[in-house]
Amino acid sequence: MKLTLRVWRQKGPEDEGRMVEYQLDDVSPDMSFLEMLDVLNERLILEGEDPIAFDHDCREGICGMCSLVINGTPHGPEKATTTCQLHMRKFKDGEVIDIEPWRAQAFPVIKDLVVDRSAFDRIIEAGGYISAPTGSAPDAHAVPVPKPDADRAFEAAECIGCGACVAACPNGSAMLFTAAKVTHLGLLPQGQPERYDRVVKMVEAHDEAGFGGCTVTGECTVACPKGIPLDTITRLNRDYLAATAGRKKKS
Ligand code: SF4
Ligand code: FES
Repeated sequence: MKLTLRVWRQKGPEDEGRMVEYQLDDVSPDMSFLEMLDVLNERLILEGEDPIAFDHDCREGICGMCSLVINGTPHGPEKATTTCQLHMRKFKDGEVIDIEPWRAQAFPVIKDLVVDRSAFDRIIEAGGYISAPTGSAPDAHAVPVPKPDADRAFEAAECIGCGACVAACPNGSAMLFTAAKVTHLGLLPQGQPERYDRVVKMVEAHDEAGFGGCTVTGECTVACPKGIPLDTITRLNRDYLAATAGRKKKS
């Protein structure tokens, strides 16, 4: 495949940044998107140019590090996929592909396509833990958990912290990410001691980090590679209202 890539290049946080065009003539449809960038970077290094900085780690869709806006869509055109799991067969020969970093006030660009997502760490630090002594791994079914709660908690735990929800949101809100963490722990018996403190502290950390407010546009859930549903935010709102109204009622 022959491709034209228009890539966001930015030397550092203070640099203005600009789109730079590159031609690639020998892209295999079987390459992953990141492998295609590796090929371009190898060429840039051989030519004495600065390679394009981009985040990645597992390349298996589980770590949440890969984070590219491809043709205006976080993680590209394929639904429910991370950038590292996207393959070049999803693109046409001769296509022009725009590649940009996540765009959000709370995710400042560090270099090229790499953004600072430590704001997510601060939300986790604010309440994404349990203080109950849990000891070593318990025997199966030692702590009874209703099946619907276990399923819902597991679904929320699938969030990999990639940030696509923020990049897709017109408000730059991280409410889907925050709601996934609140839901994951708030549904399990071990998560009950801090349940209501957790939701308030995590929402406060979310706001302090500069993420925007949620107006339920639903763009987040469409962009989410793990399909975290929008009603996860409804559940966060219920816990937040119960906590701030002083009614600690389990739903
Ligand atoms: S909710 Fe989805 S899009 Fe947002 S950080 Fe988690 S996995 Fe990524
Ligand atoms: S590199 Fe780990 S999810 Fe993509």
